[in-house]
Amino acid sequence: MRLLVTGGAGFIGANFILYWALNHPHDEIRNMDKLTYAGNLENLASLPPLAKHTFIHADITDSTAVHKAIAGVDVVVHFAAESHVDRSISEPSPFVLTNVVGTHVLLEACVKHKVKRFHHVSTDEVFGSLELNDPRTFNEKTIYNPRSPYAASKAGSDHLVRAYAVTYGLPITITNCSNNFGPYQFPEKLIPLAITNILEGRKVPVYGDGRYVRDWLYVEDHVRAIEMVLEKGKEGETYCVGGLTQDINNLAVIKKILAILGKGEDLTEFVKDRPGHDRRYSMDWTKINKELGWKPQHTFDEWLAKTIEWYREHKEWWTRVKSGAYKDYYEKQYG
Ligand code: NAD
Ligand code: TYD
Repeated sequence: MRLLVTGGAGFIGANFILYWALNHPHDEIRNMDKLTYAGNLENLASLPPLAKHTFIHADITDSTAVHKAIAGVDVVVHFAAESHVDRSISEPSPFVLTNVVGTHVLLEACVKHKVKRFHHVSTDEVFGSLELNDPRTFNEKTIYNPRSPYAASKAGSDHLVRAYAVTYGLPITITNCSNNFGPYQFPEKLIPLAITNILEGRKVPVYGDGRYVRDWLYVEDHVRAIEMVLEKGKEGETYCVGGLTQDINNLAVIKKILAILGKGEDLTEFVKDRPGHDRRYSMDWTKINKELGWKPQHTFDEWLAKTIEWYREHKEWWTRVKSGAYKDYYEKQYG
């Protein structure tokens, strides 16, 4: 099989490629990535030397490059996106361009080249926000209610993907997944930001009251969910993917990281809240469990500790990532 993976040098895309090359060594992977601040070919350094992986340095909004890359491909797995909510608040335009326009360019090319499957990687953030004690959870029938430019741009892309299935008969699948954590996550997101700040002896910024809840999932569980959907998922269907069954708020996550690293709570700092901050996400993953047999295999506590160990062992990786342009972003965001 020949796959086109978009965004394969970012956090989840790179984890997907590393997993796929190991578990499907006969498949050919084309990896198209613009290498924005979040894309880093070092993430793929551990690919086996014989891996059938070709890197294409291109923007998914570039129709000529996309058509060329898609010709002869069986399956497209679409990760490429602007992915950070805070950046979408300070500069929304790249989110609309990459997430909406870029997805549209890919869909057009997929119809023309008759790909056998377009798999769209999306997020639970399209569903909006739940209250802390709300008994409801998000599922495949939940009405979309995006509240940040990031979530709105992902919602727009989901709608386009479904419209292309209905209107042009494109064989699609979608996964809406909760917050991931694990190796190679850019240290602007909460967990790697907290780990690397603490390792540097810096404080962890806690937005608002810190009682915001995310549904954390180890990245390899997400990758396995996508694998199962590609192998057994029904064309045209959406699958919700999530992790924990028990709520854990940001302060509790940070306290766990501090405890594992043997540091005290003096390394936390309450800062101004994010505008429009979604209070809580919670996923109901019954459908993918019942229909495809997927369930998370990695518990939060054990794999948080392993993730911390990974960051400890890969200081060079994140020190390089945290230098340069990221320094300017950090100054602007946190002062
Ligand atoms: P990331 O920001 O780490 O990586 C995104 C990758 O896309 C980078 O390699 C970047 O260079 C590339 N990219 C950005 N714009 C591009 C463009 N115009 N053309 C080509 N490449 C471009 O993101 P991630 O956390 O790995 O997320 C991957 C996907 O998974 C996204 O679609 C995101 O919405 C979705 N998702 C993420 C999470 C999460 O917790 N991180 C959860 C659910 C869904
Ligand atoms: P983040 O990792 O940005 O993911 P998302 O907003 O897509 O869920 O943030 C996770 C949670 O952590 C969210 O409630 C915002 C909060 N947060 C902080 O409290 N401090 C920070 O410095 C960051 C980056 C996030």
